[in-house]
Parts: sequence; structure tokens; C-alpha cells
Amino acid sequence: MLRQGDKGQEKTRGIMSELRYDPTAARKLIDDSVWDALVEPLQAARQETFDDVELMAADDIPEDKHPLDAGFIPYPEQLLSSPDLGLMIASAERLRGEIDRLLVLGIGGSYMGLRALFEGLCHPFHNELQRADRGGVPRLYFEGNNLDNDTISGLRELLKLRCRDAEKLKQRWGIVVISKSGGTLETAAAFRIFRDALESYYGAASERSTQLVVPITGEEGKLREFAEERGYKDVFPVPDGIGGRYSVFTPVGLYPATVLGMKVREILQGAADMTERFRTAPVGENPVLDYVATCHLLERDHGMNIRVLSTWGNRLEAVGLWYDQLLSESLGKQERGATPITGVNTRDLHSRGQQHQQGARDKLITNVIIGSPSSAPVMLPKVPAQLDQDQLNRLAGRKVPSLLDAAIQGTNKAYADDARLTADLHLSHLDAHSLGQLLQMLMLATVVEGRLIGINPYGQPGVEDYKRNMAEVLFG
Ligand code: PA5
Repeated sequence: MLRQGDKGQEKTRGIMSELRYDPTAARKLIDDSVWDALVEPLQAARQETFDDVELMAADDIPEDKHPLDAGFIPYPEQLLSSPDLGLMIASAERLRGEIDRLLVLGIGGSYMGLRALFEGLCHPFHNELQRADRGGVPRLYFEGNNLDNDTISGLRELLKLRCRDAEKLKQRWGIVVISKSGGTLETAAAFRIFRDALESYYGAASERSTQLVVPITGEEGKLREFAEERGYKDVFPVPDGIGGRYSVFTPVGLYPATVLGMKVREILQGAADMTERFRTAPVGENPVLDYVATCHLLERDHGMNIRVLSTWGNRLEAVGLWYDQLLSESLGKQERGATPITGVNTRDLHSRGQQHQQGARDKLITNVIIGSPSSAPVMLPKVPAQLDQDQLNRLAGRKVPSLLDAAIQGTNKAYADDARLTADLHLSHLDAHSLGQLLQMLMLATVVEGRLIGINPYGQPGVEDYKRNMAEVLFG
């Protein structure tokens, strides 16, 4: 039903549709003159992001620009026409055909993008389905993103219970280990633990123990050195000039996405289309620039330094978590930077809703609204009159999307009535192309805003402090 590769759905859609950003409700607090005065600085910030790409290409990066990781901007288009894409897809398809469970080990930018793609594009109960119902692709598990003894132990136990005969495809598992630096302790520790389990299962000297492990890492570092020493069949790079949280469209996100059967070319095309729109469209028709203008002006002039990305429906929650990381690590510097929060509605109307409606006026809510669901609309059934205690017979025959739509309208009206500001991001449906657009839009917006307010959006110097201290505690 929701699996990638649904030809029927594509036919009815005809053309790929564009993401739309509508800040009308939020602009009530922004004077036109204030908006207009920002147009030039915004255009300059856009120009700077493209100049950064040129500086990197010319290998001429001035000191005050370090670190500079603007490679993600042209990368989707470059990858689409590069033979590297075919090589990556071939390797991922090989791995897909050899295993029924995939462990992805990575932390931060090395796993959150894949999680966003997985939850947005794969079946909501992917791991529960039989292989044939999953489209012949493996189940997915994340580890190496924490130091939680119980989840590590639980996953090892699950693998032991379910995988006893390595000659049977349905009992084989493999690892994709992702670390750009190659030295992140959480990921390295998990890799050692699960590599040990994998080598015990297949035999350390067996071909499978090198063929069913795929490292994705920078050109240098401990993981790269280990991969060479161990002789893994396939190793893929995290390209130079693309930082962790900007790497979802490199092999970091796309290699495992291909193993899982997602349409990576369409994801890349969505991202490339968004970059082109960002480059060419004027303010007022440019989702990246309009989003930055709205968020920035409301923060600067009205103290709205909390940004709620409010996803309507469950499947974009991981996009929100990915964005939390992107915005926090990119702009949370020099005692500045808005605080991102992910909301999932209608679920969170029953948890955060009270505060958003009546709490401090420090929040801008950006709704992410999907036009139509990926599966056939579910209808509310009619019941005999004597069983209509919930009084829902009045709504019998209505479909779940129309109930959600009523919730969106009702909530937006309640916010508007009290001058609680909202903006809407519309995706006509949730598919590979639209998710490609959305993620690239949010990455571009983060970088443009950084340039606009004078904060380098690349690098995460603060995170290094905990790593250094932790290493000192462990290694003395
Ligand atoms: O955005 C970033 O750079 C970070 O979140 C990293 O992705 C994270 O720290 C993991 O780093 P690495 O891939 O080097 O293990």
C-alpha cells in the first residue's frame, strides 16, 4: 500500500508537484515595509551561499569562512549525473538481496536523515511485515546513536533469537556503519559489539563477514583505516565539503535508503529542484527565502525564538527531529539561535496544545500539511443506533483525512483568533520527490539564515567539548 515503487500512484499524479510555503497568517504581524527592507539582505545571503560553493570549488576558502561545508547545495544534481550513483545503487541492491535485517550504526547527522526518509516513505509497520510484503527489502534497526545497554543488548538478543541458520536469507543480517569522522565513540563502540556478533555468526574468516558490512565514512580517519585493514568489499565516502547534518543526500542517507527500496533518484531530483527554485525564484515565490524572512523577522522583532515544526500526521515526526538537530547544531552558537521543537498533530494538541494556545508569545508554528494520504482513505463506519453512544453516526461515511482537515482548520482558526502565528508548508502528497524538496529546503533555509545573521551554520564546536571531556574520563 505505501511501498515505494507504486506505479499506480505515480500514474494518477502525472507530474511531480512543488512544495508550497504559505506564510499569510504569520505575516499579520509583519509590516510590508519591514518585509521589503529585508529583501536585499536576503538576496545577498542567497548570493553568499552560492559564492561559498564557488570558493570551495576553487579551493580558496578565506580564514573567516572556516569551516565551510556548502557542498550539499549542488550535490544532488551532481550525483544524479555521476557514475557514482549507479555504483552505490548496485552495491546497495546487492546487500538488499543478501540480508533480511539491516543494522544502521550512526549518530546525529549520520542517522537522522535516513530515519526521516524511512518513516516518511516506508510502510509504518515495515519491520512487522513479511519480506514479500516489504517489497523484498530488509527490516531496519538503528544503533550506535546512544550508549544504552538495554537497547544494545535487546537487539543482540533479537538477532540471536531470529537468526540461527545463516544459509537462509531470512535469517541473515548485515551492518551499514556510518561515521564521517570515523572516530565517534558511540558508533565505534556499537560497531565493535555488533561486528563481534556478526563475525561469530558467519565466521570471522568467512566472505560474509566482509561482504555484509558496508562502512560509509570520510576519506581519512579510524573507520576508513579499519575498513581498509579488514578488507570490506564495499566502502562509500561521505564527500568532502558536506557536513554530517547536511549529508542526507550523500551515501549517508541514500545508501541505506536504496537497500530499503526507496526511490533515491526521485529523492535527489526533489532536492535538485528545490535548489534550482531557491536559486531563481524571487522573494515572495521562493519557499526558502520566504521561510527565512518569516522566521527571522518574527524572532528579531517579536521575540519568537521558539520554532515549532508542527507535522499533521505521524509520518513526518522524524523529519521534525532531523530538523531539530539541523537548526540547533547550525545556528545555536554565540548565545543565539532559535530553539526548534517538533510537534505531531493531532497527537500533541493533547500535550503541547495548551501552551501553544495560551502560553508565552514566543512561538512561531509552521504546519507541515500533506494534501492526500499515500493509502486509500479510511472511512468511519456506521453502527446500529443502540450502539451509537459516541454519537459518531453523524460522521459515519466521513474519511479520516477529512477529520484531520477539520482539526487543521479548527486549530489554525483558534491560533489566528488569538494572534498566535502560524505558517503552512504544503506537500501535495508524501513521496520521494516531495521529501527531497522538503529536506533540501530546510537545509538551504538554515544556511541562508546563518549568513543573514552572521553565524557560521557549519561546524558544531560546542559538541566537541563533551567529546573531549568524555575521552579524558575514559582514556585519562
Ligand atoms: O552534523 C554533524 O556534523 C553531527 O551531528 C555529526 O553527524 C555527528 O556528530 C556524527 O559524527 P560522525 O559522522 O563523524 O560520527
